[in-house]
Amino acid sequence: VLELAGLTAAGVAVGGLATLGIEAAVRADGAADQAALPDLSGTEPFHGEHQAGIATVAQERLVTVAFDVTSDRRQDIQALLQAWTAAAEKLTAGQPVGPVAGIAEAPPGDTGEATGLGAAHLTVTVGFGPTVFEADGVDRFGFAARRPAPLVDIPPFRGDELDATRTGGDILVQACADDAQVAYHAVRNLARIGRGIVTVRWAQLGFGRTSTTSIHQTTPRNLMGFRDGTNNLRSEDSAGMAQHVWVGAGDDPGWMVGGTYAVVRRIRMLIEIWDRSSLGDQEGTIGRLKVTGAPIGRAAEEDTVPLDDRAADGSLLVPKDAHVRLAAPADNGGVKILRRGYSFTDGLDPRTGELDAGLFFVCFQRDPRSQFIPIQQRLAGSDALNEYIRHTGSGIFAIPPGIQPGGMLGSGLFD
Ligand code: HEM
Repeated sequence: VLELAGLTAAGVAVGGLATLGIEAAVRADGAADQAALPDLSGTEPFHGEHQAGIATVAQERLVTVAFDVTSDRRQDIQALLQAWTAAAEKLTAGQPVGPVAGIAEAPPGDTGEATGLGAAHLTVTVGFGPTVFEADGVDRFGFAARRPAPLVDIPPFRGDELDATRTGGDILVQACADDAQVAYHAVRNLARIGRGIVTVRWAQLGFGRTSTTSIHQTTPRNLMGFRDGTNNLRSEDSAGMAQHVWVGAGDDPGWMVGGTYAVVRRIRMLIEIWDRSSLGDQEGTIGRLKVTGAPIGRAAEEDTVPLDDRAADGSLLVPKDAHVRLAAPADNGGVKILRRGYSFTDGLDPRTGELDAGLFFVCFQRDPRSQFIPIQQRLAGSDALNEYIRHTGSGIFAIPPGIQPGGMLGSGLFD
């Protein structure tokens, strides 16, 4: 096989490492070069106009939890947000939320597993689901009048196989970091602080970011082996972010200005079926080439997708049901979303023995009614990718703006 490919074993080894981008991390003597490993001491600012974890250069790991509020007291939610804000401020600075060692008779103030680890660029992002404003017609906490119009219930899409235990939720906490344990520690401690007021509805761990959110990042690959994030918005594009992601000064409600709306979808990939499909099929499904990430019919990843180009036989180069064509057709009026998802693998499906893995799709936008929902309606209708994926979880959340020192995340609910 190597001979056929015209490669030597040594060439493959070097080429393989270069592809993974880790050649710099391995010295000639084979020892790891610590300097080339990610800097885990780095911090991300907690305060600002927007919450961190959206425009932030996407970190490597994600732990997302959706909580249900079990208390029926509005003051409990306020107390919780106050405590979470204080805790998140410490965690993102790389500090414990309380003393790990102290009174022998009492539980430690911090669970301790991040002791000695850096902040690893941890961000904590908090949002509110529709059910916090109203559930089954009941205004549970007196927030109904504050429900933002864009925070609609996500409509059912063709092919949805949503698991109720992985869907919805009153409050979202997304922790991203370059170290899995740091992200996990943050969510675990917030859950601990919230005991008696909230319970965990679902949790999702993610690895290997599947999007690029900065011009300084290279495009990663998803579990289908394709570059994912090429045509994503970039946080440096402030005009694009203002147009497509941040709730603007004239938008309603005023308490959401500087915030955004998150839609999350747990999308399982039917890996075994995908792995048996031909390369040509895979590329036609996405509309891009597998190795380079270039659009079909083009040479470079950054080239514009040639939606109108045809082959000699008259057929469209990028098939009419290719994912990239339906996700961004020529006539969609330039609608964009900020994609910020992660790969996941949750072991085996006990019913079938197949891999339960895929893409935890996360996107941020100014109004899901004109962004995620119509895009997904089109994809659910005829995306060639549907043969290889199943949407198994879903959620929509209003992500309030960022805060200044002394502020409280989500204070707009109460002002
Ligand atoms: C497992 C499910 C999915 C996979 C494997 C997948 C994969 C990809 C890949 C490989 C690309 C091309 C590279 C790029 O521009 O980023 C892409 C583009 C895109 N995807 Fe997906 N995607 C999935 C689900 C979704 C969903 C649910 C949405 C939105 C509802 C979406 C929206 C987009 C958009 C807007 C683009 C950019 C199209 C363009 O401007 O050219 N994707 N996706």
